[in-house]
Amino acid sequence: KNRQFIAVKGNILHFTEDPRSKGKNASHYHPDGILLIEDGVVLYAGDRSGAPTPDEALTTWYDYTGKLVMPGFVDTHIHPPQLSVIASNSIELLDWLDTYTFPEEQRFADDDVCRKGASRFFDETLKNGTTTALAMATVHAGSAEALFREAEKRKLRFITGKTLMDRNAPEALTDTPESAYDESRDLIERWHGTGRLGYAVTPRFAVTSTREQLEAAGELMTQAEGLLMHTHLSENHEEIRTVRELFPEAANYLDIYDRFRLVGEGSVFAHAIHLSEEEYERLTQSGASVSFCPSSNLFLGSGLFRMDNAQRHRIPVGLGSDVGGGTSFSPFHTMAEGFKVCQLCRTPLSATTAFYLATLGGARTLGLASSVGTFRQGAEADFVVIDPEATPLAARRSGRAENLEELLFVLMILGDDRFVAATHILGEPAYTRP
Ligand code: GUN
Ligand code: ZN
Repeated sequence: KNRQFIAVKGNILHFTEDPRSKGKNASHYHPDGILLIEDGVVLYAGDRSGAPTPDEALTTWYDYTGKLVMPGFVDTHIHPPQLSVIASNSIELLDWLDTYTFPEEQRFADDDVCRKGASRFFDETLKNGTTTALAMATVHAGSAEALFREAEKRKLRFITGKTLMDRNAPEALTDTPESAYDESRDLIERWHGTGRLGYAVTPRFAVTSTREQLEAAGELMTQAEGLLMHTHLSENHEEIRTVRELFPEAANYLDIYDRFRLVGEGSVFAHAIHLSEEEYERLTQSGASVSFCPSSNLFLGSGLFRMDNAQRHRIPVGLGSDVGGGTSFSPFHTMAEGFKVCQLCRTPLSATTAFYLATLGGARTLGLASSVGTFRQGAEADFVVIDPEATPLAARRSGRAENLEELLFVLMILGDDRFVAATHILGEPAYTRP
């Protein structure tokens, strides 16, 4: 079999560590460098002088000179079925769910809506440079099925799961502990570990699951290796008040999930804003991760995520768009909103750290750090090509950047989908800016 090579010229940037703990050794920047890919996998990322030289006849070249070439962005919390409720105004979370989200999610009982929605969703993520996501489907198995099919077709590394909800939601959006178990199990058997796909057991949040259903979710987690557990945690005060009423026996919100074996290394908790010291400690001890969803948290008035506390407790953090509670598919927008949240909490967030969180940091929270989020040799070659001169204003401002941190800062604050010149999956172009 002939080997296939792809060679990419550009300003190569990636992380192999967290810049907050490993400083300069965490990031690798090679202006005018080369990314060499063999059969979809990174063979070399670095200066041109040290690059191996594969047979020219077997090599396809992409010239992105002057542009930044980075690992594709990892969105650690997003709701594909909420694509059409983005930018819907309401007072706060529970009201927003009842008014816009639950009605919209009911449309996904129809497989045709699921299919078209899945395709529209990945068109949107790819044009924003997002190559991997942890996504919450609806309660309908067909919704997860359609996302898996579309991701498989596009060769994406992608994780989703059918949402479990058996109370406090419209009848048409509820399952039962039994159907939740059976349908999830069937999806796990058919999709988990198929190609680049993974499954996340997905109780929506403690408000919408009975004890019996959370018990079933815990049981599902024992059914295969490498499953994730994906849910929401402590996003909103009214939500927290409600779960306290529903689970008076629990010591705190996290403890509800803990009682059903849902807190562990593969657990990803979206939001995690209003936490007690005990909850932070338990998150650390369990190895669970959190998804910081700043645009959603500001949009829904949920609160300010405490990055300082997460850092102090060494809890792995990724960034989540949380569309449609979040206001943009663009990781630049998510980073910019994250920066502002950290400003309000007087916790400095460098652009370098933000880009780490959007790539390798996110991959780590999903247990994917050896596959995506980095250009370490052997990693899967999903990458985004960023144009620092996408607009006249950006060209002017980025032209004044005196170092990499300043350039990344300008991109973080001004960036959007116009800045994504191309997105490649396993080396091949999956999106090219018109
Ligand atoms: N909590 C439970 N469901 C949801 C949801 O769909 N979006 C957000 N932001 N929070 C939730
Ligand atoms: Zn969410």
